[in-house]
Amino acid sequence: MRSVQVARPKGDFELVERDVPEPAAGTVRIKVQACGICHSDSFTKEGTFPGIQYPRVPGHEVAGVIDALGAGVRGWTAGQRVGVGWHGGHCGYCDSCRRGDFVTCRTAAQVPGITYDGGYADYMIAPAEALASIPDDLSAVEAGPLMCAGITTFNALRHSGARPGDLVAILGIGGLGHLGVQFAAKMGFHTVAIARGAGKAALATQLGARHYIDSEVQNPADALLALGGAAVILATATSGKAFAAALGGLAIGGTMIIVGAADPLEVSPLQLIGGRRSIVGWPSGRSIDSQDTLRFSALTGVRSMNEVFPLERAAEAYDRMMSGKARFRVVLTTGGT
Ligand SMILES: NC(=O)c1ccc[n+]([C@@H]2O[C@H](COP(=O)([O-])OP(=O)(O)OC[C@H]3O[C@@H](n4cnc5c(N)ncnc54)[C@H](OP(=O)(O)O)[C@@H]3O)[C@@H](O)[C@H]2O)c1
Ligand SMILES: [Zn+2]
Repeated sequence: MRSVQVARPKGDFELVERDVPEPAAGTVRIKVQACGICHSDSFTKEGTFPGIQYPRVPGHEVAGVIDALGAGVRGWTAGQRVGVGWHGGHCGYCDSCRRGDFVTCRTAAQVPGITYDGGYADYMIAPAEALASIPDDLSAVEAGPLMCAGITTFNALRHSGARPGDLVAILGIGGLGHLGVQFAAKMGFHTVAIARGAGKAALATQLGARHYIDSEVQNPADALLALGGAAVILATATSGKAFAAALGGLAIGGTMIIVGAADPLEVSPLQLIGGRRSIVGWPSGRSIDSQDTLRFSALTGVRSMNEVFPLERAAEAYDRMMSGKARFRVVLTTGGT
C-alpha cells in the first residue's frame, strides 16, 4: 500500500510502499478513502508535539470503510463506512475515562498521525472505540474534515452555553472557522465572522455569518461591542495576538473558547474580572461526538468547502493548507472506493 510518512521532525513528506497492516485485537483496518489535512498535522511535520515516534504517517480526519476486524471487535462490520478523528483511542478505566471524558484519558490517549500511523495512506489501523459511523448522505470527502475541524467547532459551540439568538463570533476563518460559522448559524446564533482582509467577507456571509469583521481595518473588540458584545468568541486562528485583540468584545459573562493552538496571548486580568468574562480551552471530543457532528451536518446541510488532492500530492496539499490560501479545507483522496 501507499503511505505518506514524515521520517523525522521537519523532514519532507515521503511517499513509501508498506505492507498492508493486520488489525490487532480490539482494532479494525480501514480502507482510507479521504483524509483531511488539519493545521495540527504540523505537529507531526515539525516535531512540535511531545513523544512522536518517527517515521510517522500523519492524518486524523479520516473517512473510509472497515476492511478487516481484529479479534474481539463487536458492533462493527466489514464494509461499514467509518471516520476517525483526533481522539483515536483510550484506556476505559482511568479517572477521566470512568467519567466518560475519554478525550482526556491519562493512561492511553491515542491520536492517529501522532501516537500511531494516520490517514495519509491507503489503509490504517484504528481502535474500535475511536470509530464514528458515517451517514449515507455524506461522501468520504465531505466526512473527512468533519472528523476534526467539524467536531471541534460543533462540540465547542454546543457546549458553549450560548443560546439561540445570542451573538457568537468565530475568530479565524480557515478549516475550523468556516465550519464554525456554519454550525453557529445552524444552531440559531447571531453569527459574526472575524478574519483578516476583505477576501473572505462574501464567503463568510454565504456560510451564514450575519456580520463580517475585517480585523485589518476594524478593531475586532470595538466592532463586537458595537453589535452588543459577544456571548461567545470561538477562537480558531493560530495567533494569540488575534485572540487578545478580540477579547474585549465579550459581553458581560461572555466566554472566549480557544480551540486554535496559537502562540501565547497577553490578557489583562481587569478584562476578565469586572465583567466576569472567561477564557477556556476545548479539545475536539469523543468518537460519539464525531458521530453527532456527522449526523448534524447531514441533517442541516453543513459541509466543508474542500480542495481535493490525490494522496501522492500530499506535500503540495499540505503546503496549500499552511499557506492560508485554501478555501477552506484541503482533502487527500486515495482513489479507493
Ligand atoms: N482544539 C482542537 O481540538 C483543535 C482541533 C483542530 C485544530 N486545532 C488547531 O486550530 C487551529 C486552526 O486549525 P485549522 O486547521 O483551521 O487551520 P487553518 O485552516 O490554517 O486556519 C487557520 C486560520 O487562522 C487564521 N489566522 C491566522 N492568524 C490570524 C489573525 N491574526 N487574525 C485572524 N485570523 C488569523 C488564518 O487566516 P489567514 O487565512 O488570513 O492566514 C487561517 O485561516 C490550529 O492551531 C490547529 O492546530 C485545534
Ligand atoms: Zn485536527
